[in-house]
Amino acid sequence: MSATAHATGHTPGDGHPEDGSKRDFLKMVTAASAFIGVGALAWPLIDSMNPSSDVLALSSVDFELAPVALGSAVTVVWRGKPVFVRHRTAEEIKGAEDVSLNQLIDPATDASRVKSGHDQWLVVIGICTHLGCVPLGNKPTDPRGEWGGWFCPCHGSQYDTSGRVRHGPAPLNLAVPPYGFVSDSKIKIG
Ligand code: FES
Repeated sequence: MSATAHATGHTPGDGHPEDGSKRDFLKMVTAASAFIGVGALAWPLIDSMNPSSDVLALSSVDFELAPVALGSAVTVVWRGKPVFVRHRTAEEIKGAEDVSLNQLIDPATDASRVKSGHDQWLVVIGICTHLGCVPLGNKPTDPRGEWGGWFCPCHGSQYDTSGRVRHGPAPLNLAVPPYGFVSDSKIKIG
């Protein structure tokens, strides 16, 4: 006998009036799950369709790098998301490059996360890959965690100077958005 049968004092299918309503409820839950599933699948498909030119214009942001002092970081809003732009020191770059991949939770080289010839600039989406909080580390007074990148106050995840997760519960590195250098001092995000 199932746990459900114990709880209700009858077995499923014995003609109890509650059985019909339970079946209906289960059907509703299944239908709702299917709907959510379709919704979740639909987003990347819609996102990848060619948007109109006015939407395209809104979907990219030009950002002037000169005001970002060495060692500091700023937040740029792109498509409603915080994007961290960090001007890394030589020491921070070296620290990020010298890590062996087997020490990483989500292995990725530093070189794969920056643009060649512009490795003093790190650009990442500032959303913790655990449950979506915005990590601290851009303000001079913010904690940056043990690896000098960002610290997520929600559950204690820490990221290094390449935006790679070094201490969980976050499972993945901070994502790198699509971007490129328009000139040596300007990037286009999106
Ligand atoms: S949301 Fe960042 S650690 Fe949980």
